[in-house]
Amino acid sequence: MFIILAGPPGAGKGTQAKQISKRFSIPHISTGDILRKSKHLTDEEKEIVNTGGLISDDRMGEIVKKRLEEPDCNQGWLLDGFPRNRKQALFLEENLPVEIRPRVLYLEVPDEEIIDRLSKRLTCESCHAVFHKDANPPEKEGICDECGGNLVTRKDDQPDVIQKRLEVFHEKTEPLLKLYDEKDMLITVKAGDDRGISKVFSLILRELQPTE
Ligand code: AP5
Ligand code: MG
Repeated sequence: MFIILAGPPGAGKGTQAKQISKRFSIPHISTGDILRKSKHLTDEEKEIVNTGGLISDDRMGEIVKKRLEEPDCNQGWLLDGFPRNRKQALFLEENLPVEIRPRVLYLEVPDEEIIDRLSKRLTCESCHAVFHKDANPPEKEGICDECGGNLVTRKDDQPDVIQKRLEVFHEKTEPLLKLYDEKDMLITVKAGDDRGISKVFSLILRELQPTE
């Protein structure tokens, strides 16, 4: 199964990706996690990630191409955070074998809910597991349930940066949805209005499983 998971910042892409990846035994490839983990970013690139801009398309293309060539990607993958604009979408299309036609799963969440989700998000600095102070709290305050690492607030989860990331999403990424819809690749899942994490996962499964 080949899935592109799309949605605004804080839509729940990482949260759902983890469960989808486990259910269908496909690798979860988050370009944001790759960048945050990378020891090879320039100072300028680190600044872009922390302030909600976009890393250059050439650099992202190189990173994604290399990752998709790894053997665990042969039978499927879930891309979280790529493509983010037309140039990246075109790059992906050109670099995939013709028989691979990913499904684009769009998590639709109103902007108002994004602010709440991101301002209360906690992220593990070791394994990148994601929690939420109210919707998905860790068992022990400040400690990751998965690996015992420290939970921190991401640098780009400050109110002004969240606003910028939303603007970038609406301007650059949202137009791709129309493009994928025209190609009949788009599945939209309503993932806001207080639908909890497990409810959203069951809505996703309903969309993905009939053709399994
Ligand atoms: P990236 O890491 O991809 O960030 P993002 O797209 O802004 O998305 P987030 O990771 O913030 O949110 P999410 O949708 O994963 O939500 P989550 O599951 O955590 O990118 C970061 C940066 O890297 C970019 O700004 C850019 O600079 C750079 N970058 C990455 N890819 C790039 C590319 N292709 N090109 C150029 N630059 C690139 O959930 C959020 C919170 O909500 C959590 O607390 C969670 O517990 C909670 N939550 C989840 N679901 C629910 C629910 N149903 N109800 C209530 N709470 C919920
Ligand atoms: Mg994420």
